[in-house]
Amino acid sequence: MSEQVLEVIKKRSSARAYSAEPLTDDELKKIITAGLEAPTGMNRRELHFSVVKGDNEILEELENDLRVSRGQEKQPKNFYYGAPVLIIISAEDDFKWSKVDSGIAVMSMSLAAESLGLGNLIIGCVYDVLNGDRKSYYNKAFDIPEDYSFQIALAIGHKTDNKTQHDYVWEDQVSVIDA
Ligand SMILES: Cc1cc2nc3c(=O)[nH]c(=O)nc-3n(C[C@H](O)[C@H](O)[C@H](O)COP(=O)(O)O)c2cc1C
Repeated sequence: MSEQVLEVIKKRSSARAYSAEPLTDDELKKIITAGLEAPTGMNRRELHFSVVKGDNEILEELENDLRVSRGQEKQPKNFYYGAPVLIIISAEDDFKWSKVDSGIAVMSMSLAAESLGLGNLIIGCVYDVLNGDRKSYYNKAFDIPEDYSFQIALAIGHKTDNKTQHDYVWEDQVSVIDA
């Protein structure tokens, strides 16, 4: 067994600049498949994946609502940094592992994208807008099933920036409990 997975984990970092080049159908299919293959608590498979092209007008509307909710002026970059595709994960409201499962699935898709040489960004900043006053409007627009809520999203594309991964301090975050 090679250490390819570890290399992909190490290489991944958030991409916040993209070219307009679209994903191929094969790339998109592989990434969505990685989400579907992610484990879920009790094998509930309660996640829904909404695939939205970056130039879809609904995303401009969402960007505007986000800007208004933050009391901001129009920003030079939108919340998904012009990525050609956004995958929205929603999950069942009343299942206790929905959030954990959504996080696992988005990370599986992120690593799948990275392994295909594609930049990607996990996006949670639209959570309050998508689950706020206009929730039913957006749920309908994104084909989110009834009694489901937005959890997390992944922007994917060909990155044009070259950020390195975040730093960490092992000692600050890890305790090894000796027998
Ligand atoms: C749950 C979650 C939500 C996030 N939401 C956003 C977001 O809305 N916008 C954004 O630019 N980055 C977002 N990020 C990316 C983090 O800022 C990023 O992962 C972190 O700064 C570490 O950098 P790295 O991914 O390059 O290692 C999110 C990451 C996670 C895990």
